[in-house]
Amino acid sequence: MSAVTVDVHVRPADRAAALRADVSEGLAASPKELPPKWFYDERGSRLFDEITRLDEYYPTRSERTILEREAGAIVAASGCDTLVELGSGTSEKTRLLLDAMSGAGRLARFVPFDVSEQTLRDAAAAVAAEYTGVSVHAIAGDFERHLGEIPTDGCRMVAFLGGTIGNLTPAQRKAFFAEIADLLEPGETFLLGTDLVKDVRRLKAAYDDAAGVTAEFNRNVLHVVNRELGADFDVDAFAHVARYDADEDWIEMLLEASRPMTVAIPALDLDVSFAAGERMRTEISAKFRRDGLTAELAATGLGPWGWWTDPAGDFALSLWRRG
Ligand code: SAH
Ligand code: AVI
Repeated sequence: MSAVTVDVHVRPADRAAALRADVSEGLAASPKELPPKWFYDERGSRLFDEITRLDEYYPTRSERTILEREAGAIVAASGCDTLVELGSGTSEKTRLLLDAMSGAGRLARFVPFDVSEQTLRDAAAAVAAEYTGVSVHAIAGDFERHLGEIPTDGCRMVAFLGGTIGNLTPAQRKAFFAEIADLLEPGETFLLGTDLVKDVRRLKAAYDDAAGVTAEFNRNVLHVVNRELGADFDVDAFAHVARYDADEDWIEMLLEASRPMTVAIPALDLDVSFAAGERMRTEISAKFRRDGLTAELAATGLGPWGWWTDPAGDFALSLWRRG
């Protein structure tokens, strides 16, 4: 068992204040929206894990295929001894990178970073138990606010897997890439998982599976708001909608009110009305093209250092380096 330390930057009181701010801003907007980071309480993290095993949801399998084939090449190209993983979740696929680093005799540190503290603690403990000699320094934080808390030891490869970058709006993504470029020292690298633009029917099926797991995941944000802010959303009165916006190249997940309702949110001293059929956006999941991504990262000063896809060309892992 290796040593584990956990730094917590999202205390319950900060988390509650952030949720109150996001919900009051999002529900005052027109159209209404809620940010996707609130999906991931323990139930939401479990539902996401179920999604990754659905037939229709190819991104996790495609990214794993790339890692199975190319983890050695990625680790060699990076040349680093410290793996930082943002939005790490269960860090399941990450084992393939840790194995490759360990096999190359180059695994000193693992720094998982996630807003969901219990999932993070469980993953950190599991990695520490499996990889002797690696120091595990977990960070419970928000990757839009706490990137500056990442330890600077070693040569870092900062990985952001799963396509989670697609869940940020273009403005959030721009700010996020600039922060990553800022935190990297010369020679350090950024490994990015992105889902690629493809046939719309496959995209829609991936976000509207037959078993309804994604629908439950989507509605989970309402359970979170009910529990944390004492709201009285009738969760079953909201239908899951997934649509592809071909102009923006992104999937949108929405919750559609099946009847007119007024929802009380006591913690905000607020009543919010929904018209029948009104839609509230809960997530975007952007799909990428190589040229666009290269331009966005070049604008921050990060240069292309590697590009790998699965054989079907569904998903890409790309490596970017600070010169
Ligand atoms: N990387 C994993 C998990 C992806 S699910 C994979 O590829 O399967 C997205 C993860 O990002 C969840 O664990 C969620 O808790 C985390 N997350 C979402 N928004 C976040 C934020 N703003 N800051 C930190 N973690 C966040
Ligand atoms: C975490 N993220 C990359 C997932 C995605 O595909 O955008 C979240 C998800 N939403 C619906 N299904 C999965």
